[in-house]
Amino acid sequence: MIWAIVPAAGRGSRYGGDVPKQYLDIAGLPLIAYSLRAVLAHPSVGGAMVVLSEDDASWPGYTEIDGKPVRTCIGGAERCDSVLAGLAALPDDVRPDEFVLVHDAARPHLRASDLERLLDLGRGDPVGAILAAPVRDTLKRAGNDGGVDGTESRERLWRALTPQLFRRLQLTRALEAARNAGVVVTDESMAMERQGHRPLLVEGSDDNLKVTTPADLPLAEFLLRLARE
Ligand code: C5P
Repeated sequence: MIWAIVPAAGRGSRYGGDVPKQYLDIAGLPLIAYSLRAVLAHPSVGGAMVVLSEDDASWPGYTEIDGKPVRTCIGGAERCDSVLAGLAALPDDVRPDEFVLVHDAARPHLRASDLERLLDLGRGDPVGAILAAPVRDTLKRAGNDGGVDGTESRERLWRALTPQLFRRLQLTRALEAARNAGVVVTDESMAMERQGHRPLLVEGSDDNLKVTTPADLPLAEFLLRLARE
């Protein structure tokens, strides 16, 4: 059975505000409820481990969602510390070679078809896989003075999304190696890549957005309402 680790221990400093972004209200539910529901909706996903910050005062206290267990543990200063805490807190019967999903608490609009494709393709890969979306805008390199220094080719460039799917022990080793080297990884794949692994890219939807600034919230709300209709 696959478990989902849902890191939710970030301070959301880019968002600001009193309530961490993962707990903002969307149509009567905290944002994280949608992220959890989406990842737990697949029949192969058996439970979720939510990683909270030590001083979290907003976690709604779910112990199950749609009949599946939701557990919590305490994370750390960097994302990597939080995911490692989640991996360590998984139930003992999650084998070292079993796949685990990592899904951002702040990504409420994960399509069931994207999760299905990730699991189908990723479980057939020796390393695992990530959802990603091709870059669609033209990319500019900024100079120190704020002027455009040049244009980067967007060919073969993808935006990494979540969920990401890796084996429990391999991911633990990769994240520990990044932490020991003092490298800040912004997704789990980056830690795996540092170890020489080449995860599979699985195309996901552009609207799998990560709520990062206040401007993202109305868009998330719109997408979630549409999905409900
Ligand atoms: O900062 P960013 O938006 O990339 O964070 C992505 C996810 O990782 C968020 O759900 C955030 O709560 C989580 N995170 C964490 N522990 C940290 C930093 C971020 O669980 N130390």
